[in-house]
Amino acid sequence: MKTFRLGLIGFGNVNRTLVELLQRKDIQLGERHGIDWRITGVCSRRIGWQVNADGFVPDELLRARNSDAFVGMGGQEYPRYSDWLDAAQPDAVFEATSLNVESGQPAIDHIRAALEHGAHAITANKGPVVHAYEELRDLAAGRGKQFLFESTVMDGIPIFSLFRNTLPAIEVKSFKGILNSTTNVILTGMERGLSFDESLRLAQELGVAETDASYDIDGWDAAVKVAALVNVIMAVHLPPQKVERKGIRELSGEAVRSARNSGSPYKLICRAQRNQSGVSASVCPEQIPLSDPMALVSGTSSIIQFETDIFPAFTITEENPGLFATAYGMLADFIRAASS
Ligand SMILES: NC(=O)c1ccc[n+]([C@@H]2O[C@H](COP(=O)([O-])OP(=O)(O)OC[C@H]3O[C@@H](n4cnc5c(N)ncnc54)[C@H](OP(=O)(O)O)[C@@H]3O)[C@@H](O)[C@H]2O)c1
Repeated sequence: MKTFRLGLIGFGNVNRTLVELLQRKDIQLGERHGIDWRITGVCSRRIGWQVNADGFVPDELLRARNSDAFVGMGGQEYPRYSDWLDAAQPDAVFEATSLNVESGQPAIDHIRAALEHGAHAITANKGPVVHAYEELRDLAAGRGKQFLFESTVMDGIPIFSLFRNTLPAIEVKSFKGILNSTTNVILTGMERGLSFDESLRLAQELGVAETDASYDIDGWDAAVKVAALVNVIMAVHLPPQKVERKGIRELSGEAVRSARNSGSPYKLICRAQRNQSGVSASVCPEQIPLSDPMALVSGTSSIIQFETDIFPAFTITEENPGLFATAYGMLADFIRAASS
């Protein structure tokens, strides 16, 4: 049995659910994987850089909402990230701060410093994958550590590890899919007669909306997911700004309902296609005929279909994931890293 010290950066929906999942899977982690764990560091803007070298009590941690709560929990607050790393000594850092579409920061700095410190870096944040994938991958390899990000696309469904571990030497020619849960929840809500705002609130209550929901509505989250997939599984550098993008802001409830009644509902469709100069990619609302499986994907569900040089088409569908699906992707990454 090896004890891993864990550091959590960002303590919102994802990392809180990860703490619950670590508790739920504690016995399997120990018995099947020889992993014991304790959370020695946690941070967010509201709570600051908190450390308890002996490990926080998970239930107390889940109740803590601001820095004052850490005083009675054996927590010590540090002024800077570098001090936090030195004090918490994490073997694995889980980066789950809010998405920054433009630069991927400060998540890239968080991950770079964690790897340089000698920790594995696991993230649900797409920013580092689209803005610094190659640098962080090479840094991790050079340090004998892992940089893993399974939860960034389709929650915990194994897409990146599917290609990395089981489809060697394959060429992805194109993919298309529905990759943003929030817009899919909104479109489904509007089809059922809810207003745009009521449907958005539903997505926020489910915890699937971005911290800034305009990232979802305007197609940025989907564009970033497309860019992450293109960067990693098509090995072509594509910044999210180069993904042709249109969100769902301009769709009225009436247009959404009449499209559904006509048998071709609106979906926010992601596409990427290899071409002679690289890859062209788009995110756009499209009307999809009910004969296409994509038309049946509703609510938080998502779908992706790949075309490869070997398999003409294969499809992965994920039905009604919640936050535990995202947290599971990070947990699975952690087990992979711990076993490496
Ligand atoms: N929710 C999902 O279903 C889902 C699924 C897949 C991937 N993701 C990705 O996972 C990440 C986290 O999502 P979430 O739903 O957990 O978001 P969230 O609930 O809004 O939590 C974000 C957390 O990050 C912290 N944070 C933001 N900027 C920070 C900074 N500069 N330094 C330190 N902490 C910072 C926030 O701190 P304060 O609250 O103190 O401001 C908060 O604790 C995002 O990148 C998202 O795209 C989410």
